[in-house]
Amino acid sequence: MSALAGNASDTGRPPVGGNPAHPEFWSLPAQERAAAFTRLRALERPPFCTDPRTGRGFHALVRHADVVTASRTPEIFVSAPGVTTPEPARWVRALFGDSMVNLDDPRHADLRRIVSRAFTPRLIIETTRNALAHGLHLLTVHPDQRELLLSDLDRHLGGAVEEIVRYSTPIIQFRRTLAADHRLGGAELARDEKVVLFFGSANRDEAVFTDPDTFDVTRSPNPHLGFGGGGPHFCLGAYLARQEMKVLLRELYTRLPGLRSVGEPELIPSSFDNRVRSLGFTFTPPAR
Ligand code: HEM
Repeated sequence: MSALAGNASDTGRPPVGGNPAHPEFWSLPAQERAAAFTRLRALERPPFCTDPRTGRGFHALVRHADVVTASRTPEIFVSAPGVTTPEPARWVRALFGDSMVNLDDPRHADLRRIVSRAFTPRLIIETTRNALAHGLHLLTVHPDQRELLLSDLDRHLGGAVEEIVRYSTPIIQFRRTLAADHRLGGAELARDEKVVLFFGSANRDEAVFTDPDTFDVTRSPNPHLGFGGGGPHFCLGAYLARQEMKVLLRELYTRLPGLRSVGEPELIPSSFDNRVRSLGFTFTPPAR
């Protein structure tokens, strides 16, 4: 049995088995992690999770509503102290400087105003490798959804992209720090404490999504938080990612209609992104 096994309680503190602050949590199979988040969502209030190596921790925001509220209340849930968990080493910050995600207004708004011009739907060029890999795999292991999509690409492509982003949630989490005492989702959060916004858990919130574990390219509405919970840090590349995925899926399935993944994707254990190291594919080359 895994050293992380355990059941949720309603004390506000998760047992080790449901503890996303435990470094080994992120090496568990995806299904076990998803089950742990289901248990955490059922708690009365956001649980406090402690990293056993450091004794430090964060409040885990695992419900859709809490992630949205924290994302849209940037004056309380600030980003400048850093947004990644665990804290990056000091040299990483010194080397890469303060990126936009680690800034608060007004500096953040100034910078975002300048760069956002390059991210309008008309001007965007780049890749979203992980989302695409997850998408091609999901469309292989759900042959009915693949068939539906290929039966009418024009009609279903947009919905398929949204559902791929919801279901696979390529970015797992971002952190915020409390600028003031605040009550959220029934929990008392104190100034300087940290909260982690678990986008993947919010995207499986049964209070918002019908049959959240079902992959459904026709899901509508689909208010997923794969690009963030709204607010000033909402993904600047969302248009780019959507466009890229639509173009790539259309081209791949038009040129190689037999394209299918083989086996399970090899994931790189990470608490930050759902990164695919490798994934095999099979296809029939088009006739010359
Ligand atoms: C499927 C692909 C992608 C996903 C799932 C994704 C997801 C996210 C998420 C969850 C955030 C944090 C939002 C928040 O804290 O509220 C974010 C921020 C950001 N993303 Fe993306 N992203 C994707 C692709 C891209 C691409 C292609 C670019 C640029 C080429 C990009 C640029 C950014 C930037 C600049 C931010 C920070 C914005 C800010 O702090 O103001 N993203 N993204």
